[in-house]
Amino acid sequence: MKIRKAVFPVAGLGTRVLPATKAMPKEMLTIVDKPLIQHVFDEAKEAGIEHFIFVTGRNKGSIEDHFDRMYELDATLEARGKKAELEILARDQPQAGAVSFTRQQSPLGLGHAVWCARDIVGDEPFAVVLPDELVLHKPGCLAQMVEAAQQLGEKSNLIAVQEVPADQTHQYGICAVGNRHGKMFEVAGMVEKPAKGTAPSNFSITGRYILQPEIFKILGTQERGAGGEIQLTDAMIGLAKAQKFYGVEFAGERHDCGSKAGFLRANIAYAMARPDLRDGLREEMRKYVEG
Ligand code: UTP
Repeated sequence: MKIRKAVFPVAGLGTRVLPATKAMPKEMLTIVDKPLIQHVFDEAKEAGIEHFIFVTGRNKGSIEDHFDRMYELDATLEARGKKAELEILARDQPQAGAVSFTRQQSPLGLGHAVWCARDIVGDEPFAVVLPDELVLHKPGCLAQMVEAAQQLGEKSNLIAVQEVPADQTHQYGICAVGNRHGKMFEVAGMVEKPAKGTAPSNFSITGRYILQPEIFKILGTQERGAGGEIQLTDAMIGLAKAQKFYGVEFAGERHDCGSKAGFLRANIAYAMARPDLRDGLREEMRKYVEG
């Protein structure tokens, strides 16, 4: 199963991190020195993705600008001999024609955002990557999933899963566990944010999916679910009646950058993973931790 395209839903309001997201997209918040959206773009590129589809909305223009070429900046850096900075910009630049932008006019939910990409994806399996969830690992989470997909049949769907403490399962989409195949298991059921004490397992759905195009037909008629939103999990439950779903236990630390605490933790974790920043940061943090 070859996965060429990835959809990045970026049309949400980011209310959990207000006021940061009042006039700025959540997906442009930086983890160390790169916006969230660049982190997940790089993860997808590493996984062999060739076409990057962004589902944007109001106030999200800076995401489009971020992936464009800034002639004035290039010219100024050139004139000042700033070679290293020019190299960073060139490294992060997508190939011409490799990105598409479509718009979700109202934030009706993640499922609806994915449905907005249906014509650009067409009739082939594709990845969905949520930019507010980062996984710190090499190879990246999506590369691990693409590798897992190679071992499966043509009409399989994959969901990245990670165990969470039992008292947190009500905050996530949760998978029931069927037959195991190494680091993968057959998904025997899915439930979005189960009531406390009712979760079928501790395996939470993380923001990386590989889906078959048949999901679009289901999303097109999907009723609103939890939170009054059109939920991707509900559509996946529908597709699971006809096709197999596998949970992939990925290696790496997951960071929910859409919450304030998770965002701060991610900044520390990513900075501590950087040889150029680690030692200085450790010294600085000592002051705060040890008082
Ligand atoms: P979230 O539920 O985490 O994002 O969706 P949100 O709605 O922006 O955040 P809060 O809960 O209000 O703080 C995960 C991803 O799906 C996108 C978001 O932009 C985010 O990247 N999304 C969500 C959409 O594109 N459209 C939607 O209608 C909802």
